[in-house]
Amino acid sequence: MARSFDPSVTLNDGNSIPAVGLGVWQTPADDTERAVSAALSAGYRHVDTAAAYGNEEGVGRAVAASGLQRDDVYVVTKLWNSEQGYDTTLRAFDASMTKLGLDRLDLYLIHWPMPEVNAFVDTFKAFAHLREQGRVTSIGVSNFEPEHLRTLVDATGIVPAVNQIELHPLLPQHELREVHAELGIATEAWSPLGQGSLLSHATLADLAATHGKTPAQVLIRWHIQLGNIVIPKSVNPERIASNFDVFDFELSEQDMTSIASLEDGTRLGPDPRTFNFKG
Ligand code: A2P
Repeated sequence: MARSFDPSVTLNDGNSIPAVGLGVWQTPADDTERAVSAALSAGYRHVDTAAAYGNEEGVGRAVAASGLQRDDVYVVTKLWNSEQGYDTTLRAFDASMTKLGLDRLDLYLIHWPMPEVNAFVDTFKAFAHLREQGRVTSIGVSNFEPEHLRTLVDATGIVPAVNQIELHPLLPQHELREVHAELGIATEAWSPLGQGSLLSHATLADLAATHGKTPAQVLIRWHIQLGNIVIPKSVNPERIASNFDVFDFELSEQDMTSIASLEDGTRLGPDPRTFNFKG
């Protein structure tokens, strides 16, 4: 029977993913176990890591120490760029699972499309094999642009469950969200708080005051109401807990529109069409 989380987003393979997770990009390895433990204590049931973050062990230790049943925690990791290709992917998956201390992963993502390397189709075929073996429940991608998604679907016949992309009010990703809706791909937002840069914006401060919430809570709520899966990062236990306290208020249509007016196209991370970094 499919597991259910509340609140959650239903994926195209019938599984559900908790709508809010803790992101651990830029969380130092030594701080990761503590941050993830704080999140699980605060009610999070979803943790998003990657081989490239160097902190899968800390995630695994916190999950093991939580006392939660394996099925009650949703763990995501990502295949690093240097490992793209069929056989290399299978080996990299084993290495990640050893570090996480898990025998089944909830969601595996291709971290970047790496268009110059041109190996994401073979990589995704290896993902499909891992899913057939029951070692991973859902498979998806990260940082894929529309042309990468269409190439992948045409070549494999499999629609990724998720595309995790840079998404915040400055870069709301209209075109990709439309393609996701057309193909049936869930949108997941990384750097959902603009890496913290948006939190002092006057529009968000005003909305926060109106709702008796923090700017971060307003932003996380904006993502939830758009239907995004959202993975705010923090290493601070109070901020971790407060970022999860977002289910007792609602932004109006007008609030959503004023946040949308912050759009200016700013991209904080690399451009996926030209990013081919393997280091
Ligand atoms: P810290 O880890 O010290 O809490 P994003 O998820 O968009 O990448 O943003 C992460 C950044 O936002 C980090 O610098 C994090 O710092 C900061 N941050 C996360 N939650 C909050 C919050 N509730 N209030 C203030 N800063 C926050």
